[in-house]
Amino acid sequence: MRMLSSLALAASLACAPMFAGAAPAATATAALPAPAGAPQADKQAFINDLVARMTTEEKIGQLRLISIGPEMPAKQLMQELAAGRVGGTFNSVNRAENRPLQEAAMRSRLKIPMFFAYDVVHGHRTVFPISLGLASSWDMAVVEKAARVSAIEASADSVDATFAPMVDISRDPRWGRTSEGFGEDPHLVSQCARASVRGFQGSSPANPDSVMAFVKHFALYGAVEGGRDYNTVDMSLQRMYQDYLPPYRAGLEAGAGGVMIALNSVNGQPATSNKWLLRDLLRKEWGFKGVTVSDHGAIDELLRHGVARNGREAAKLAIEAGVDMSMADSRYLEQLPSLVKSGEVPASILDEAVREVLGAKYDMGLFADPFRRIGKAADDPADVDAESRLHRAEARQIARKSLVLLENHNRTLPLKKAGTVAVIGPLADAPIDMMGSWSAGGKPKQSVTLLQGMRDALAGKGTVVTARGANITDDPRVVGYLNFLNWDNPEVVQDKRSAGDMIEEAVRVARGADTIVVAVGETRGMSHEASSRSSLGLPGSQQLLLRALKTTGKPLVVVLMNGRPLTINWEKENADAILETWYAGTEGGHAIADVLFGDENPSGKLPLTFPRSLGQLPSYYNAPRIGRPFTPGKAPNYTSQYFEEDYGPLYPFGYGLSYTTFSMSDVRLSGNKLSRGGRLTASVTVKNTGDRAGETVVQLYLQDVVASTIRPLKELKDFRKVMLAPGESRTIDFPIDEAMLKFYNAKLEYVAEPGDFNVQVGFDSAAVKEAGFRLE
Ligand code: NOJ
Repeated sequence: MRMLSSLALAASLACAPMFAGAAPAATATAALPAPAGAPQADKQAFINDLVARMTTEEKIGQLRLISIGPEMPAKQLMQELAAGRVGGTFNSVNRAENRPLQEAAMRSRLKIPMFFAYDVVHGHRTVFPISLGLASSWDMAVVEKAARVSAIEASADSVDATFAPMVDISRDPRWGRTSEGFGEDPHLVSQCARASVRGFQGSSPANPDSVMAFVKHFALYGAVEGGRDYNTVDMSLQRMYQDYLPPYRAGLEAGAGGVMIALNSVNGQPATSNKWLLRDLLRKEWGFKGVTVSDHGAIDELLRHGVARNGREAAKLAIEAGVDMSMADSRYLEQLPSLVKSGEVPASILDEAVREVLGAKYDMGLFADPFRRIGKAADDPADVDAESRLHRAEARQIARKSLVLLENHNRTLPLKKAGTVAVIGPLADAPIDMMGSWSAGGKPKQSVTLLQGMRDALAGKGTVVTARGANITDDPRVVGYLNFLNWDNPEVVQDKRSAGDMIEEAVRVARGADTIVVAVGETRGMSHEASSRSSLGLPGSQQLLLRALKTTGKPLVVVLMNGRPLTINWEKENADAILETWYAGTEGGHAIADVLFGDENPSGKLPLTFPRSLGQLPSYYNAPRIGRPFTPGKAPNYTSQYFEEDYGPLYPFGYGLSYTTFSMSDVRLSGNKLSRGGRLTASVTVKNTGDRAGETVVQLYLQDVVASTIRPLKELKDFRKVMLAPGESRTIDFPIDEAMLKFYNAKLEYVAEPGDFNVQVGFDSAAVKEAGFRLE
């Protein structure tokens, strides 16, 4: 075992010179910015002075990040804080609770403030759509606004830092954490990463209404084999650099102060002990200046990964690799004192880690005022959950933008605000699920369900009738799994009736209505950490319910709530309309009703590919080119496809309908040659050809026709969201320069090679107009 671990380490280190020599990217040459707002010279002098006065025990204390609750009772925590043995905590979001903890830290010898972190991923008291929904807006002002409001609310609850944004690229929707990210595309996810960090940190993480962003999970967590959470990642360096690393880098370029390290391994070495990842790439190549934290218990897990024999080796590996803070395990506390004393871990390595932790606190503004976000007791909110603390208008507006119209046969939608609507389905009245996973300080009783939203919309104008129709699953084992952590207050409560009885009741209710709106999908726990699925269809008897409702002959509107693409082939063929709503947050029910009744014209576009079947995984549009591609219209034999089903995805990346229609002209290029340092413009004229105002997303893809290494079929490089009145036309100009043509070659040099390029512009990744030019 020992031998293996040193071999693995040696193998990963062996790569280092190659990277150091390469360090090439346009995105990778410039050093990352120092966190905004902190005078760096003063900061270094301040930290130098402080570190010089600290004992080894105090230094090690700063590296501990404690999970409030199960890890340590409050009384003990206060003692540890007063002894200077804790750097920060996470999971408490209450000024009244946090104040005594900071006061305890202020009683410590050097009065070093602690910081409070929390998983504020897509909202705090107000819950916004899950990140997949935010990405579906393809509107960075929307993504930024959700993060900004989250920061305002979280900081008002004494939170200094958030473990977000989560920017792991995911191409395998079996992975439950697909829901937490912004999808499959490097460009779109990078844009979302930047917008999120801007929103969380505002102009500076030191602002009292900002929280420091910790970009996670570094790195490649979304690429776990088979979509099985915590599994292995083994990936070529080209793919890593080209597709998976850019979003982390983008978040750091936007000034994120922290990085959370992933739980998975990367090419044979756990990220938590991966020197190449954390030192050579993150620190040296990218120049990251902030703090790194391990994920929950990850240093301990080095034993189970089989790269450390015991806690001592684990602590040594982690700190040497560059893990500054240890989250929720005691290895640093137990082992570092003697490791440092014996010289096995050089004191300089400990000091480096301590400096980063203190630096982060400095940048959060905590040395200037440790109670910056805690405030005075007299100003504490009487009720932390008070309605007045929510941002409902913002939540509704943002949720409206996150919804994706997948089908709308015979203009079934928008519905009229009249008559009787049957609102059916296991997710029709599911306040917890509406919030999605990682819903921070959100309260289910404050989230508007679809049923409530429909009732509010139809009040005084029409009637809502309802039936549950189906449980989310009929499998007690799955229910047990989903309720594992909360048996006292289970999230998944089964209706005791048989599936047949529930369907019968739903059909009876539907027969008395003019239209059926049926909410189906997954509970939020099914799209969560450790919730990998081995199938992607609607669970349980939900499809049986849909089939039975179809027999009524009434218009069938399917409202999907889910945190990953689902294989909804039958639904695509048989539903009259399908609206993908992900988990739309506190105001979800109102926002969905706004779209169903046409108060909002849907404009969301898919941030990931919907496959036809599980067998098609991994599913992503920007796949490398191959030697025997399937060609539409030609015999499929001896081409790359699955012979039992149609070729290609069910819905492509970038897809989404509107209540109006748009046309696009051919692509016009300002020239057919691009010189180095020069610029071309690709233009299209887009027209609203329908009868109502609407927004669409014009997407620019590029393809490198011949290169020294295989390049993808196409890559998203730019996009514009445009609002057009009926009949209105607008010309969209996309500048194209050399930087957009660069890629990592076999030597990991970031280069644009001369030759032909295709420009593709479309309303999704599949249906595009093309033009070509040459780079000289
Ligand atoms: C484990 C998760 O992987 C991570 O995303 C989260 O931030 C931490 N737990 C803290 O809650």
